[in-house]
Amino acid sequence: MAVDVTWLGQSAFLLEAGGTTVLTDPFLSENPKASVGPDDVEPDVILLTHGHGDHLGDTVAIAKRTGAPVLAIVELAAEIKGEGVEVFDPNLGGTVGFDWGWVKLVPAWHTAVSPNGTPHVAAGLLIHIGDRLIYHLGDTALFSDMQLIARRGNRVDLALVPIGGHYTMDRFDAVTATEFINAAQTIPCHYDTFPVIEADAAAFKQDVQNAGFSEVIVLEPGGKHRLR
Ligand code: NI
Ligand code: MN
Repeated sequence: MAVDVTWLGQSAFLLEAGGTTVLTDPFLSENPKASVGPDDVEPDVILLTHGHGDHLGDTVAIAKRTGAPVLAIVELAAEIKGEGVEVFDPNLGGTVGFDWGWVKLVPAWHTAVSPNGTPHVAAGLLIHIGDRLIYHLGDTALFSDMQLIARRGNRVDLALVPIGGHYTMDRFDAVTATEFINAAQTIPCHYDTFPVIEADAAAFKQDVQNAGFSEVIVLEPGGKHRLR
């Protein structure tokens, strides 16, 4: 089944397959580059990599308006549950099954405290939807265990890779990440939202494709890619 992937800006993506809409890290109203606002999305579920403001974003408002449950690492999920939102609360290594697929939390190297002060550990997301496997790296530095994630199950069809540097790996470390992950396709994210994370996505694409590590699709916020 095809999966329609829309980049909304920063680490926010819509993943749509078979009538299910998954929303990740919906930082929209405060993102000057976001392609939509928080009232423009109708997710069935919201997935969070961690609770920094540029990821948690409009999660609670969207969840309350739509009734969508939120999946986040256990400490962050407890905070969100306290806002009156239904949650799924795995920890690293945990998998949550849905009628449309599954989501597994995997490690990421990054600090994390929510805007309300809840300490937690940042994660990546393995998302199985439409019989495709998507690896949303979240915010992370380069680390060699990315290879394990690609090695121990289905091949990763699509990797969503931060390239902006400063708060995450930069576009040069991200090239090595694509080598480790060995995904068929890669979409860069978490860049150009603010001056400090400006990055040359076209150069990243050229470096990855010249090395033969993955096919890179560069989107503008609001841009769509059909994963077949
Ligand atoms: Ni972060
Ligand atoms: Mn971030």
